[in-house]
Amino acid sequence: MRRILVAGNWKLNGSKQSIQELLDGILAGMSEAKTDVAVCAPYIYIPLVQEILTGTAIGYGSQSISENDSGAFTGEISGSMLKDFECQYAIVGHSERRTLFCEKDEDTAKKFAAARKHGLTPILCVGELLEEREEGITEDVVSRQLDAIIDLEGVEALADAVIAYEPVWAIGTGKTASPQQAQDVHAFIRGKIAKLNADVADKVQILYGGSVNGANANELFAMPDIDGGLIGGASLKAEDFLAICKAA
Ligand code: PGA
Repeated sequence: MRRILVAGNWKLNGSKQSIQELLDGILAGMSEAKTDVAVCAPYIYIPLVQEILTGTAIGYGSQSISENDSGAFTGEISGSMLKDFECQYAIVGHSERRTLFCEKDEDTAKKFAAARKHGLTPILCVGELLEEREEGITEDVVSRQLDAIIDLEGVEALADAVIAYEPVWAIGTGKTASPQQAQDVHAFIRGKIAKLNADVADKVQILYGGSVNGANANELFAMPDIDGGLIGGASLKAEDFLAICKAA
């Protein structure tokens, strides 16, 4: 039985004060949640998050990672730096990184490799644009995004990763994929991996992301191949985030 993971992606949001309040609120309400929970913070707040969450049941990580270990890469943060602050997760290939920061499939694969190399669990985001869904090429797009990882790291690498299926048209738009639409792509992803390694396919957690909230989480997480969620907007308020954790 795969465990359910609810991971928050705070994106470019928060302050020392708001993060303290948010995490205090989540910790206070957490006893009723039976899922694995994590938050992915802006880099600069990771030491604060570490201070608050060490010794609690909530994991934490970053929203990206450098593919490089050290050197002349101004503005970057490496896997060893994240490990220094005991991060457990690093999101790679989020659609905002792919579209706004021009990260290609190959860049995502290198970041995925860097995370694993440093003992971080990559949360690999995949998903199609609206035009791609309308063209009927969702599976081709997701397949191509996964192949970049499999080609570089081998399918076994996915056993130490989390995959997040995030249809780009559903991110931050309030338009959630229906549970069946999401399930279909999740089943496709698991089926594709199963053709290469059935154990890995059975084990890998596949989260859904895109306008998940307390009202729709239950139905989404009830689908057989949906193992939790990657939560943007609704991870910024303790009450909303807890509602999702409890739905799981
Ligand atoms: P959203 O974002 O929940 O605000 O749609 C999800 C994500 O980008 O990971």
